[in-house]
Amino acid sequence: LVLVVDYGAQYAQLIARRVREASVYSEIVDSGTSTEEILARKPSAIILSGGPSSVYAEGAPQLDPELLRAGVPVLGICYGFQSMAKALGGTVAKTGQREYGRTSLSIQDSGCLLASLPNTLNVWMSHGDSVSRAPEGFDVLARTAGAPVAAFEDRERKLAGVQWHPEVIHSQWGQQVLERFLFDLAGLTPDWTSANIVAESIEQIRETVGDRRVLCALSGGVDSAVAAALVQEAIGSQLTCVFVDHGLLREGEAEQVKEDFVRVTGVDLVVADEKERFLGALSGVTDPEEKRKIIGREFIRTFEATAAQLAGERGIDFLVQGTLYPDVVESGGGSGAANIKSHHNVGGLPDDLQFTLIEPLRTMFKDEVRAVGAQLGLPEAMVWRHPFPGPGLGIRIIGEVTAERLDILRQADAIARHELTAARLDREIWQFPVVLLADVRSVGVQGDGRTYGHPIVLRPVVSDDAMTADWAKLPYEVLEKISTRITNECPEINRVVVDITSKPPGTIEWE
Ligand code: XMP
Repeated sequence: LVLVVDYGAQYAQLIARRVREASVYSEIVDSGTSTEEILARKPSAIILSGGPSSVYAEGAPQLDPELLRAGVPVLGICYGFQSMAKALGGTVAKTGQREYGRTSLSIQDSGCLLASLPNTLNVWMSHGDSVSRAPEGFDVLARTAGAPVAAFEDRERKLAGVQWHPEVIHSQWGQQVLERFLFDLAGLTPDWTSANIVAESIEQIRETVGDRRVLCALSGGVDSAVAAALVQEAIGSQLTCVFVDHGLLREGEAEQVKEDFVRVTGVDLVVADEKERFLGALSGVTDPEEKRKIIGREFIRTFEATAAQLAGERGIDFLVQGTLYPDVVESGGGSGAANIKSHHNVGGLPDDLQFTLIEPLRTMFKDEVRAVGAQLGLPEAMVWRHPFPGPGLGIRIIGEVTAERLDILRQADAIARHELTAARLDREIWQFPVVLLADVRSVGVQGDGRTYGHPIVLRPVVSDDAMTADWAKLPYEVLEKISTRITNECPEINRVVVDITSKPPGTIEWE
């Protein structure tokens, strides 16, 4: 276990991810965690993250020097590096000279941490203060124009630090620097694999559940599918999955859940076919927020009714949620099982249904969830499915949602997705919404005749977390193929446009 002490920037998660990419298990702890608590978890190494403060700022998180004397290997990054320097008697100078972004680093002594790297490399910096003198016993390894001591190490005490952010992709050789620390300085073994994750989770689920019954809401998305498949693997017939078919999914997705997922996992699935209910409730509605509220409300009603019925018939003790590690970290951690209070993935559940939550993915990042899904044999299309909003195609039809319009959009969307997959771009593109401007018409010409059809919008984006996104520069040939096929195969559509807005200012979805 490698513990990443979070000094408050958004980098701690990224560091933990990179460590896990090196096949070493890693978790994040808050910088307020006491040295005693940290050591009680018996970490095999510790990484101190960057943070927004100056080590001299009032209320800046302090590093307890005892943590550095415990014999556990420690790597300090940016703020963590400066805290380490300060705690061990080095000098951190307020140079007033900020270095931000890409910076050229010169290596003077590669030591253990920077072994076999070129003499100069570009690294990503974000700091105001600088370490001007390393603590006693440390070798200075590198410098930049603004940081006379940009990296140091003490091989004997297994302590090291870097001023830059090796965890971000803009830092050349970043992953290698982290791995040199983990494997060479700290002497760890890379043994965290998806097979281990699966085995451990299964054991835990069995222990928690015993012989009781579990319910899981399947959405068609990766997280709920992988969570359900894990639980199924662990306790088999004690699990029942509920799939609310609201009719707003894309082509093939409902079938994927109803057929493929059941075939692969053998899960006991209850399908609530409520297409009519959702369409009826959405009739005449054009306002995006109103649509969202209606879809959310109807979803809860359906799920509630199905769950209550199952609880009456079979007795249900646990509910599976596909909560991921970033959600856990962002909501401030917390313990294993909790009674449902809030709205998470499934939406608000009725107070009188008392389940205990099982969250088998709560220590995992998305890429690990995918690896686990693949390990469990889920279909590739399910494992690599792009994020898809709960309200589904309901918020990708601009205007009223009708059965006819859903069919048009489903057809166009299937073409776009098919061509993206054929171009092997699925994994590069974060998401590829296709949006029907159902209330807009334009004049076109097809064959010899005038047409008066609808435009369809392609909205491919790249992103890391959906908080921000950039429009994806899809190759022209791919765009052309999609456009030609959609206008040829969907008679109602005579114009294909590409959305080239980043987020912000645009959101990923149109509604
Ligand atoms: P926006 O459109 O706000 O979306 O940039 C950010 C990410 O969230 C997804 N999204 C949703 N996911 N329920 C969900 O589960 C929703 O109501 C919802 N609305 C947006 C969106 O697809 C994107 O990935």
